[in-house]
Formats: sequence, structure tokens, C-alpha cells
Amino acid sequence: MKKEFTWIMAIVCTLVFSISGVAIAGDTAKGEAIFKKKKCKQCHNLTEKKKVGPGLKGVTSRRSEGWLVKWLMNPQKTWAENDAETQKLRKWRAGREEAKKTKMKFKKPPLTEEEVKDLIAFLKEKTS
Ligand code: HEC
Repeated sequence: MKKEFTWIMAIVCTLVFSISGVAIAGDTAKGEAIFKKKKCKQCHNLTEKKKVGPGLKGVTSRRSEGWLVKWLMNPQKTWAENDAETQKLRKWRAGREEAKKTKMKFKKPPLTEEEVKDLIAFLKEKTS
């Protein structure tokens, strides 16, 4: 009986761990669907090529994950706060450094934290 219990606990722990692991890492397929649905492509290439916004090639290594979450949850607020990483972003195109507002806007409603994690997982896979 004790042996069975140990086995069952081991299986339960593995399952819980792998499910929560997926949730933390984000789902790349869902991320791709959100990228399409929110029309990120209208303004961004997944290459280095600039469009309305910067090319997203390498974005998950040039920016911290914490900053990316903050940015994608609320670009306007993050732009206004102007932390160290936002100051780096402002240099992406001449004339953006002094701008009062970001040009990054997408269809409402705002992204949830889970959607943001999925997007980051997708970007990590496609652009690094
Ligand atoms: C209307 C155009 C537009 C749309 C739509 C848009 N963005 Fe942006 N994005 C920008 C601009 C412009 C910037 C740079 C900030 C600025 O100059 O205002 C930016 C910046 C970014 C950055 C930071 C890039 C870096 O080099 O640090 C990321 C990441 C990003 N956008 C992802 C997304 C994602 C994901 C979506 C879809 C949910 C999206 N954007 C939708 C215009 C857009």
C-alpha cells in the first residue's frame, strides 16, 4: 500500500509540474494566433526590417522578459514611464526619442498576462 501511494504521488507531482511548466513558458501556437488576431504584423516584421515599428528579430534577447510583459500589457503607460529599457527602445528610429506617445496600438481588449506569455514564447521561437 505504501509503495502504491508513493507511485501515485510521483505521477501526480510529475503531471502537476509539467502542466504548470507549460503555463509558465507560454504556448507558441496560441502566441502565433494572437499575433495574427491582434494584427501585430501590420506594424512588425519578424525579421530585422523596420516597418511602422521595429523589426522583431532578436527582441527576446535585447529586451528582458519582465520589460516585454510590461510593454505588451500596456505600451502607452510603459512609454510614459520611460524606464531604462524604454529609453533604449526610443532610439530605434530618429525622432522617436522625444515623442510623447508610442505609436504602438492594437485592437481592444488589452492582452491578458497569459496571452502576453504566449506571444513572448512565439517571438522567442521565431525571432531568436
Ligand atoms: C499600429 C502599429 C503597431 C501595432 C499594431 C503593434 N505594434 Fe508593436 N510597436 C510599434 C511601434 C511604433 C513600436 C516602437 C515604439 C514607438 O516608436 O512608438 C513598437 C514596439 C514593439 C516592441 C518592442 C520592440 C523592441 O525592439 O524593443 C514589441 C516587442 C512589439 N512592439 C510587439 C508587438 C506585438 C506582439 C503586437 C501585437 C499584439 C504589436 N507590437 C502591435 C507599433 C505597433
